[in-house]
Amino acid sequence: MFPHGTALLDAARSLGVDVDSVCGGRGLCGRCRVICAVGDFSKHAIHSRAEHLSPAGEAENQFSERRRPLEENHRLSCQALIQGDLVIDVPAESQMHRQVVRKKAEYRDISLNTSVRLHVVELQPADLREATGDLQRLYDALNQEWQLAGLDCDPAVLPHLQRALREGGWQVTVAVHDRSRIVAVWPGFRNYAYGLAIDIGSTTIAAHLYNLTTGENLATGGIMNPQIRFGEDLMSRVSYVLMHPEASDELTDVVRNGINELIADVSREADIEPVEILDVTVAGNPIMHHLFLGISPVELGGAPFALATDGALNLRARDLGLRINAGATVYVLPCIAGHVGADAAAMVLAEEPHLLEEISLVVDVGTNAEIVLGNRDRMFACSSPTGPAFEGAQISCGQRAAAGAIERVRVDRETLDVRFSVIGSDLWSDDPGFAEAVQAFGVTGICGSGIIEAVAEMYLAGVISEDGVIDGGLAERSKRIVPDDRTWTFVLYEGQQRIVVTQNDVRQIQLAKAALYAGVKLLLDRAGIEQVERIRLAGAFGSHIDPLYAMVLGLIPDCDLDAVESAGNAAGTGAAIALLDTSTRAEIEATVRDIEKIETAVEPKFQEYFVDAMAIPNKNDTFPKLFSVVTRPQSDTSPVRSNTGRPRRRRRQRTR
Ligand code: FES
Repeated sequence: MFPHGTALLDAARSLGVDVDSVCGGRGLCGRCRVICAVGDFSKHAIHSRAEHLSPAGEAENQFSERRRPLEENHRLSCQALIQGDLVIDVPAESQMHRQVVRKKAEYRDISLNTSVRLHVVELQPADLREATGDLQRLYDALNQEWQLAGLDCDPAVLPHLQRALREGGWQVTVAVHDRSRIVAVWPGFRNYAYGLAIDIGSTTIAAHLYNLTTGENLATGGIMNPQIRFGEDLMSRVSYVLMHPEASDELTDVVRNGINELIADVSREADIEPVEILDVTVAGNPIMHHLFLGISPVELGGAPFALATDGALNLRARDLGLRINAGATVYVLPCIAGHVGADAAAMVLAEEPHLLEEISLVVDVGTNAEIVLGNRDRMFACSSPTGPAFEGAQISCGQRAAAGAIERVRVDRETLDVRFSVIGSDLWSDDPGFAEAVQAFGVTGICGSGIIEAVAEMYLAGVISEDGVIDGGLAERSKRIVPDDRTWTFVLYEGQQRIVVTQNDVRQIQLAKAALYAGVKLLLDRAGIEQVERIRLAGAFGSHIDPLYAMVLGLIPDCDLDAVESAGNAAGTGAAIALLDTSTRAEIEATVRDIEKIETAVEPKFQEYFVDAMAIPNKNDTFPKLFSVVTRPQSDTSPVRSNTGRPRRRRRQRTR
């Protein structure tokens, strides 16, 4: 029971209902809007009436006129006073920790709980008789109204403070970071602030811009990592720094400049000013993490792969050269180990293996695969040096994923004919209109997901053996198999350019996938697990691989195919979660501390698992779930069951 005359906002708060407010109950922000439910609620024996609230006064009328008309029975809870029995709905957008809904049911929703909060404050005009400085008076007001004791102020704010107070007629909106530091002050009332989640990949950098007061994603952009000119893959960039130690700073400048360009792009797209961005979260692999922070990555180039720092960092944007609000903060997610970085930590936050009962395997497939295995009881992580083959490098017709790159491949099991599709067109190569559709860019090469499908399909069609040898004996059957020195090559496309898969290409893919699988096996061993229940493939490349072909190749362990999914840009999603819900920062820091790290380079069994995994899909592991849905190709070595269930021998393949 509340005495008549109690403000609804006060009543709600005393009941523990988290109603939002930026203006401190002045009727300015509209964040405390609630709905008076009118009717008889017999369950509670309540007759709720609109008249049981005080009539709308001047503040609500002005709010309706100047900002947004209040619909029928909608009230500002800071203004409406209780005058009888009431049932009140608090809409989601008025709740302080409202949910940011994630698309899939398997994930928890994120509770909006940002590190920056806005507060509208009014001060008495300066007075000759009052010697206290404006900043101290601001501290006092914030403490009095919002219980923000012990505040300090970013030095970048001070030069603007007095002007802001006078321009705003002694009313200012103050942005406070983590209830402890004033990071921005604007004249008058302001109801918005922005934040940015950045994922620094070795090939691309992605940024996601959010409205911190609503959790809305306003823009997402990406650029190629401009460090590429120092080396396509991570290790070549580290080698560059090893040879030119002074170049470390240059690589840092280049990546920071790239991020600044990206910030300008996403700000333009969302029609905001970069100076309105107050909080940033950053994820990246260890080498990108170090270079972004201005730390030389040379120690990460060889054993024992020592990180300069593995803990999460809270830094100032200006110290990192970011052109956003001068007081903005940057939270860098923690690294897991020398080769398992803040991107993997963000991936864990996004995919939540640490919260689930079932055993998850989460893999970021890049030049260095980052692998996390486990569930809510125990987690393990390692990385595996897959090399650049999955990104199309070291593949004879390999190219980066761009228009014209073959990304999907099918090989006819009888005729060995090939159909494919390329990035930039939805049509298959045997669809009418394909030639016209790709005319602008042509068929130029094969990207990472394309080479995975090509090799897997070649295996399923019997073009290559379990050992990965292209069967030259099939040259009599198909013109696509052509001699190439002492080996054979498979022709995917003959046009302006000839796109082929050579024996060496198959070897490169075998080496890459064997390294990844050997890493997975080490983690399974350490965890004492034989079967994973859920697999997520993350990263720019991983999220484009068809799970079926990844499993056919033996890139990932046997699992129900419908439990294998792309995780999309999980590192970017994780960075966004850390941006929108600061409580997850402590969560991921604690989780990362508990993850058991395994260094593949010093594990004696790595080599053994690697050799077994060179076979397709694997020499020892039989992949029963996979081959219950996919026909095992004919092979000269393995007995298979005929339709009658009796074992029979496959025909012998001829090899050259
Ligand atoms: Fe701002 Fe009510 S708290 S309008």
